[in-house]
Amino acid sequence: MQILTTKKELQETVRSCKMSGKTIGLVPTMGALHEGHASLVRRCVSENDVCVVSVFVNPTQFNNKEDLAKYPRNIERDAALLESIGAHFVFAPTPEEMYSAEEMNNTFSFDFNGLDKVMEGKMRPGHFNGVVQVVSRLFYLVQPDRAYFGEKDFQQLAIIHFMVERSELAGTFGNLKIIGCPIVREQSGLALSSRNERLSESEKQTALGISRTLFASQEWAKEPEATVAAVQQRVIDTINAIPGLEVEYYEIVDQSSLLPTDTFNHAIGCVTVYCGPVRLIDNIKY
Ligand code: PAF
Repeated sequence: MQILTTKKELQETVRSCKMSGKTIGLVPTMGALHEGHASLVRRCVSENDVCVVSVFVNPTQFNNKEDLAKYPRNIERDAALLESIGAHFVFAPTPEEMYSAEEMNNTFSFDFNGLDKVMEGKMRPGHFNGVVQVVSRLFYLVQPDRAYFGEKDFQQLAIIHFMVERSELAGTFGNLKIIGCPIVREQSGLALSSRNERLSESEKQTALGISRTLFASQEWAKEPEATVAAVQQRVIDTINAIPGLEVEYYEIVDQSSLLPTDTFNHAIGCVTVYCGPVRLIDNIKY
């Protein structure tokens, strides 16, 4: 496995792979890798001749500077994990290598047809512009055949699908296929997240209340008189009743439009919860 730090090295490397007819898969990450990322990388390795993993804590998608500063970073540990599961190249640039000073201010904005105006987008203005800024740059540099993203960030995945298939950028990335991969959970049910590293053992126990409630809500949705509005409120009330947890939002929305829905068909519930100071997200399909 080779670690590349410049855009030039990356482009030269993928160009020579492509010239020898190899297919390329890309797994964009912000590092602090866990089994969820590993599942994306394993799938990428199994479906492509060459697997490129980017490890870059993208400053332009953080609207909270403290969150950016506290984001866990450990490139040595990440590289060891990636090597052990068969990744071929790691792209780990500095922010200065990735962006000009002007780009660093995230001055451009995409039209996502409203997908960025709800849930995470409403709570973190500009966040998805920053995500698409870095992801589109990575697509441009790597020109992958397939790119892999986790369904834990369901809204991010929907926006990336939109960008590749329907937005003003459609067509720019050739036949790129976006592949969404299922959430990986601990045995306990807790969705794996790099942010879990910031939870103490007791906060981790408390955080289990999130997935426990989401799973219970699948059963509540099957009750004869169940309505979306009532299940949504019951999830919020149940999580908020657990000391140490505070719901920022829970919305049951259509899986494609991300707009509120009044049926459980094709619906997904997306939650953001503060566990102490740590902001956790999770979702459940109905
Ligand atoms: O999901 C993430 O880790 C990030 O948002 C991504 C897609 C790597 C872009 O920085």
